[in-house]
Amino acid sequence: MRFAAHIITAYPHMFPGPLGESLSGRALADGLWQLQTHDLRNFGHGKHQNIDDTPAGGGAGMVLRADVAAAALDSVTAIADLPVILPSPRGVPFSQKMAQDWAQTDGLIFLCNRFEGVDERFIAARQPLEVSLGDYVLAGGELAAMVMLEAVLRLVPGIMGKAESGMDESFSLANDGLLEYPHYTRPQEWEGRAIPDIVTGGDHEKLAAWRRAEAEALTQKRRPDLWAEHRAKSEDEKN
Ligand code: ADE
Repeated sequence: MRFAAHIITAYPHMFPGPLGESLSGRALADGLWQLQTHDLRNFGHGKHQNIDDTPAGGGAGMVLRADVAAAALDSVTAIADLPVILPSPRGVPFSQKMAQDWAQTDGLIFLCNRFEGVDERFIAARQPLEVSLGDYVLAGGELAAMVMLEAVLRLVPGIMGKAESGMDESFSLANDGLLEYPHYTRPQEWEGRAIPDIVTGGDHEKLAAWRRAEAEALTQKRRPDLWAEHRAKSEDEKN
């Protein structure tokens, strides 16, 4: 079955956006995955098809109505039985592990919000998975959905050109959860900087050890949190 991405949004013209370019764009044109947008406004109320309202109890911004969000989502789940993601800064952190798991599904439904939030009763009733890209606030869920989709699509079997390049990279299990080692290409010397001899020397064992050491040093320096996790896992495996 082709991977199907369903996007519920008040801005359907934002899609496919960058996903229509490069690898994912070619795969979309080739029918290797499909994208369907669903306009939230079609489920709005009144002459102006309102989808939001002021927050109960006061406060800044507007809130997406529960009945509108539910009507839109129900119309999609009626045709597609897929995990439902609500991009939100208060969600669980997005991760490569999540992308790997989602790449094994038949597709995903993203509900993109542009307001202060969604009425909590919608979340309680439909229980979408709230997922955050990081500790910062975007103006809406659309770009977050695109980021998550791109991370997932490149792992969906058949979409990425070369299978192993999806494996040996930062955060992947194949790389032991470490950041990736440095890469080089021609020319051999550039602005007085040469490619390290060990990279071009032809000793594969030595090169693998060097890459591993570089990945460890980089992780230790830039991501002490990942390094601690990696160390704890290595200790566990020893015991
Ligand atoms: N919507 C607004 N901010 C977001 C974030 N940090 N992650 C995911 N969705 C969001």
